[in-house]
Amino acid sequence: MSGIAFKPTHDKIAVMADIPVVLSGIQPSGGLHLGNYLGALRPWVLGQEKYRNYFCIVDLHAITVYQDPKLLREQTRQLAALYIAAGLELKHSTIFVQSHVRAHVELSWMLTCITPMGWLGRMTQFKDKSGNTEAESVQTGLYIYPVLMAADILAYQADFVPVGEDQRQHLELTRDIATRFNRVYGETFKLPRPLIGHIGAGAKIMGLDDPTKKMSKSDTNPGHAIRLLDPPEQIKRKIMRAQTDSGSAVDVQNAGPGVTNLIEIYRAVTGATKETAWDSFNGITYGALKTKVADAVVASLEPLQNRYAELMMSPTELDALLKEGAGKASEVAEKTAALVRNRMGIG
Ligand code: TRP
Repeated sequence: MSGIAFKPTHDKIAVMADIPVVLSGIQPSGGLHLGNYLGALRPWVLGQEKYRNYFCIVDLHAITVYQDPKLLREQTRQLAALYIAAGLELKHSTIFVQSHVRAHVELSWMLTCITPMGWLGRMTQFKDKSGNTEAESVQTGLYIYPVLMAADILAYQADFVPVGEDQRQHLELTRDIATRFNRVYGETFKLPRPLIGHIGAGAKIMGLDDPTKKMSKSDTNPGHAIRLLDPPEQIKRKIMRAQTDSGSAVDVQNAGPGVTNLIEIYRAVTGATKETAWDSFNGITYGALKTKVADAVVASLEPLQNRYAELMMSPTELDALLKEGAGKASEVAEKTAALVRNRMGIG
């Protein structure tokens, strides 16, 4: 099979420009929190000028676990507004909803056909999520979800994919799938690379209620995460209740995970250096520390929250932006799908 000759002639993908392509996506399931913002959205914004970016709202990924249909539609639009409110600019970044670009699903099927089950069964996220469930009742979508992610990435011939550590394995799988496709059907896909430690992406934000656990979207304890759209009063209340260490004042030499997390949150939202932040907090009471952190978080989210509120007041405009984004994305993704169909001999 792999010896098939191919002629890279008329159907070769047009190299559009010399600037690298970036693609990433977030699931519209549950409200984004400060960790998502500092670890994903903000780095996308800070790096956007250097790349040609595609940022999607991956609703097809969200339905791998049941979503209330009405809520999903609402959260999809909300996430789009958050992308823009956070500072993604349409001149650098194409923003769209995954399901609006039909080529993702088509490519995903074609890629599924060359992906061994063994590769998918080894994905740690799948093993974690399906862990104790009998194979009899694990949804197939959860299993093939990394192929859909590969389709998202390969559809745009992305050079870089900003992802967190938890998605690194899926990106490696994407490279494996692309490599296999190229070998079997001829050179077709570029191999994407992870963009980890993207500008400002170093911050690792832990849960307020348990600073030994990463802040998580699906944690249901209301004191766990600072949601980007929490009103200022709620943000303050959550931070004032955050778990600290025993004792009552900051001791830089012996700071435990709770105090460390608060100071790291402060650093991430203010841009203060490690020395400045830690020195300035040494010896102050936990109460005073929390007030400072809360004020800094509230101030840093204020512009985003205001912009978000404005965008949500004009849903028709927002929908028009998304339609435009889907149109721009489709042009690229359709070209890739056509090439892949051609390589595989269908259509
Ligand atoms: N799987 C990713 C997550 O759950 C979301 C995602 C879907 C994604 N498609 C992508 C991320 C493409 C980067 C690139 O977080």
